[in-house]
Amino acid sequence: MSYPFQITSRAQYDAAYKQSIENPEAFWEVVASSFLWRKPWDKVLEWNFTQPDVKWFLGGKLNITENCLDRHLDTLGDKPALIWEPNNPDEPNRILTYKELHQEVVQFAQVLKNNGVQKGDRVCIYMGMVPELAIAVLACARIGAIHSVIFGGFSAQSIADRLQDAQAKYIVTCDGAKRGAKQIPLKEVIDDALVQCPFVEKVIVHFHTHTPVSMIKGRDVWWQDEVDKVAASGNIDGLATEMDSEDPLFILYTSGSTGKPKGVVHSCGGYMVYAAYSFVNVFQYQQGDIHFCTADIGWITGHSYILYGPLCVGATTLMFEGIPTWPDAGRFWDIVDKHKVNILYTAPTAIRSLMSFGIEPLQGKDLSSLKVLGSVGEPINEEAWHWFNDNIGKGRCPIVDTWWQTETGGIMISNMADITPAKPAYATLPLPGIQPVLVDENGKEITGNDVSGNLCIKHPWPSIIRTTYGDHERCRTNYFATYPNLYFTGDGCYRDADGNYRITGRVDDVLNVSGHRIGTAEVENAINMHTGVVESAVVGYPHDIKGQGIYAFVICTNTHDDDNLTRQDIAQTVARIIGAIAKPDKIQFVSGLPKTRSGKIMRRILRKIAEGETNNLGDTTTLLDPNVVEEIKAGRI
Ligand code: WTA
Repeated sequence: MSYPFQITSRAQYDAAYKQSIENPEAFWEVVASSFLWRKPWDKVLEWNFTQPDVKWFLGGKLNITENCLDRHLDTLGDKPALIWEPNNPDEPNRILTYKELHQEVVQFAQVLKNNGVQKGDRVCIYMGMVPELAIAVLACARIGAIHSVIFGGFSAQSIADRLQDAQAKYIVTCDGAKRGAKQIPLKEVIDDALVQCPFVEKVIVHFHTHTPVSMIKGRDVWWQDEVDKVAASGNIDGLATEMDSEDPLFILYTSGSTGKPKGVVHSCGGYMVYAAYSFVNVFQYQQGDIHFCTADIGWITGHSYILYGPLCVGATTLMFEGIPTWPDAGRFWDIVDKHKVNILYTAPTAIRSLMSFGIEPLQGKDLSSLKVLGSVGEPINEEAWHWFNDNIGKGRCPIVDTWWQTETGGIMISNMADITPAKPAYATLPLPGIQPVLVDENGKEITGNDVSGNLCIKHPWPSIIRTTYGDHERCRTNYFATYPNLYFTGDGCYRDADGNYRITGRVDDVLNVSGHRIGTAEVENAINMHTGVVESAVVGYPHDIKGQGIYAFVICTNTHDDDNLTRQDIAQTVARIIGAIAKPDKIQFVSGLPKTRSGKIMRRILRKIAEGETNNLGDTTTLLDPNVVEEIKAGRI
């Protein structure tokens, strides 16, 4: 069975693409009409990119969880909605059917209400990859609370910043999270964050790792106790709150080129339509397929392709608590074999890391259920592409290389499995409805093929970012002010002779470390917090596994006699301020940084040195003190 908006042939792709450009509103109206709306929209689209102000399906009323759950109950009620594979392979997995997931969501939605959460309130969710994370997200959506999921690797300080920015009064967390052999004391991290957030009223804690926690009277409650109370009272209305198409569904913080992460806001109607549309078309999902997206729900990929996209179309989605290399590097393949996974969607960094273990961990694993493979988060290098294709797909599974961003809500440029051809290291073609353009530095569109430029998008699509929470001007300057009437992605891009797009990486000061977006300014701010540090400059450099590594040039006053200890102190400071994911891989102590006469750091030079290209540094004549470059070159790590 195919879905009403499923494109099933190349000819249909071409026709759909043409129509989507010629008459976008008619195109999206057809796609949107296959969802459950309590009240249909009055107008498909209103937009301008100057303010920016984009609204889709105006006047439409809905609740996304009725689309994800309720509407499947009659036809797919006993079908697995969520398969959960625990961190420890010896523990039992859990399977929640659509009926069971619905029941859990409705119950927890009642718990949220009983604890004071109302429509429009922000709820921060800081949990490991357990089914309750999915339940908490959906329960928020059920009652119109705006969820803000924070990845379990962020520090107390990062959480506090996000809580303050969103003024979130409610938190859902766990005692701890399991990641391979490690446990992360999530509740303890929350407690540290809350020292700076007296406005937080309730913390709901799911009991999972049996880590000792402090539960503060009046503020902290146990998830299980609250659910038991609701179940015993029998007082569950089960009703989903009616939302306007443009009401915010969630906030997700992401890094940009400034020091402070921004809260990307997505809306209910447009996000739902695009997440489901892109899911079905890119992966060519067929009813009954088991979809395994290895991302964490703390990132946009988990939001769109573990939860909302798959559930909206009644798919079976697999959620994995652990990491690919524990208890050994065969864990993904065990999961594929055990659950007969059909679609595997992962990141180049995971592929490269598994590649480094060779093919021994694949021995004896039956991967024949696989039909489609996917990659996301960073450019996939050809070597990793071929390894994935040869050893995992055995040459018979199309690999979709999906380019998109937190801000786009869903996949924008990608081949569609078995519909449009793959090309290693290329995201290939835009989905119908998406109009990429390349521009030069002056904002002039570069037409024709075999050209490179900065990647922008011309016309709004339903899941485009609506605002950055609490600061609309920031949304305008970040994405819509660089080039008039275009959404600017921050990525550089090449278009080949056949019109295929290849993303070449960020053109702003944003790093992509193991598929995680990290702003250089954020890392610099964190390094500069360390007592001995005067100033620092952070750039990326090519890293075999992570894609990009973090290279920090640091001017230090009082160091320990032992440079290595000072380096560790600095790394520890970054872990404290942001999280372990942002720790620099290399720290070079320098006496000065290459600056222009106006005091601007010339990162271009530092980037070249970090990349090991010390001979061809380009124009250095505008430097205040060219000698500093020689010193930095000589001290390169
Ligand atoms: C990069 C992740 C090349 C890109 C969904 C983008 C990619 C940033 C690809 C967004 C890809 C993502 N090929 N680069 N297939 N997918 N990127 O917001 O630089 O975490 O701007 O969203 O990742 O990262 P984000």
